[in-house]
Amino acid sequence: MLMGKIKRGARVVETAIGETLAMSRSTSSYLGNVSAKNLSNQDASLESGDLPMETSDRNREKQAREDVNAMPVVETTYATCQTAVLLAAVELDLFSEIGHGYNSVDSLALRTGYSTRALRILMDALAGMGFLEKDADRYPLSAVASRFLSTDSPAYLGQFVRVHQGDVLRGSWFQLAQTVRSGKPPAEATENVERFFESLVDPLYTLSLPAAEVAANAICAYQNDRKLRVLDIAAGSGVWSLPLARRDPHTRVTVADLPGVIENVTRRFVAQEGVADQYEYLPGDLLDIDFGETTYDVAILGHICHGIGAEQSKRLFDRVYRALKPGGRLLIAEIIPDEQRREALFPLLFAVNMLAVTPEGDTFTLSEYRQWLWSAGFGEVLTIEAPAPSPLIVARKT
Ligand SMILES: C[S@@+](CC[C@H](N)C(=O)[O-])C[C@H]1O[C@@H](n2cnc3c(N)ncnc32)[C@H](O)[C@@H]1O
Repeated sequence: MLMGKIKRGARVVETAIGETLAMSRSTSSYLGNVSAKNLSNQDASLESGDLPMETSDRNREKQAREDVNAMPVVETTYATCQTAVLLAAVELDLFSEIGHGYNSVDSLALRTGYSTRALRILMDALAGMGFLEKDADRYPLSAVASRFLSTDSPAYLGQFVRVHQGDVLRGSWFQLAQTVRSGKPPAEATENVERFFESLVDPLYTLSLPAAEVAANAICAYQNDRKLRVLDIAAGSGVWSLPLARRDPHTRVTVADLPGVIENVTRRFVAQEGVADQYEYLPGDLLDIDFGETTYDVAILGHICHGIGAEQSKRLFDRVYRALKPGGRLLIAEIIPDEQRREALFPLLFAVNMLAVTPEGDTFTLSEYRQWLWSAGFGEVLTIEAPAPSPLIVARKT
């Protein structure tokens, strides 16, 4: 079930992109009709063999120009509109109401008091985006919306949608040109970091739990002596260490994170899981905290390297290596682009996100991680397939 969550989540992105591409294709086929006609004329002329070479080159150039249409520009401009539609539906809690059976425009308008015209337009758009089904005058929730966008679901991700539209992220995304000019994110992005993380890490629990369960199985298989000493750095909700703590009451976890995040988030998740007596805390800046020496069987870096950047990550790997016992393992969960940084769009956009809000953040390839880990002294560096945007990395201290 948990694996399904993230896969469905991933499919939202895929579906959105897929539909964009599908739209693009249908539009280009409209525009393409013109070029297809030109092409068939040209082919006919070419077949007749009576066109001089220069003319046919010019025709090919002309045809290539006609085949390039503006829809990628239009659709990318309107991508913001998709976000706005999703945000409005979350803010108005439409998914929960629709899930309760108010799934026609009229019944939802009656229930909420909102404009019928507005709801019809919004619900059609939500259906087009894959969050609602559409069947005559009914708009039931899609599987993704039912699992992640109804407040009735324990996997509700409304907070994830909201936090991305707040001042820190959206505010910074829309100052990107200035960030590119200066090389520095806007000042607001680096203020109140603690408050920002307090609201971000809650929904990240839902997103990362399926992969964290896979990671815990792998780690328990490697480290079969149990009674693990675990160091969860930048733990947030504790999503990566909680499955380890749950598997063995003798496992002990040390969390390093910002004081506000520990007090307001980590402790709450740890208490909910009933493992509070297995946890201890190192509140502070992870760049300064002393992690000790030869203490831990497992260290975890969950989604932190992209935020602190290459140089700090390398330094962190050195300190983690020192803190691990011989044979201990480091687990890294990250968003990793392909080696050429040109295939999957999400890791590339996530790098832009880091550019927009951090002074050094970025996304890094597997080769880069491998190189840094080897330089820190780690021997074996493996990847584990998991229901996450990228494979997990596991490095072993020799
Ligand atoms: C993106 S969240 C990841 C949380 C969790 N590991 C996960 O994967 O869901 C980054 C975490 O790093 C913590 N963090 C960021 N900068 C930090 C710093 N300088 N010192 C300590 N913790 C920091 C944040 O508070 C947050 O919990």
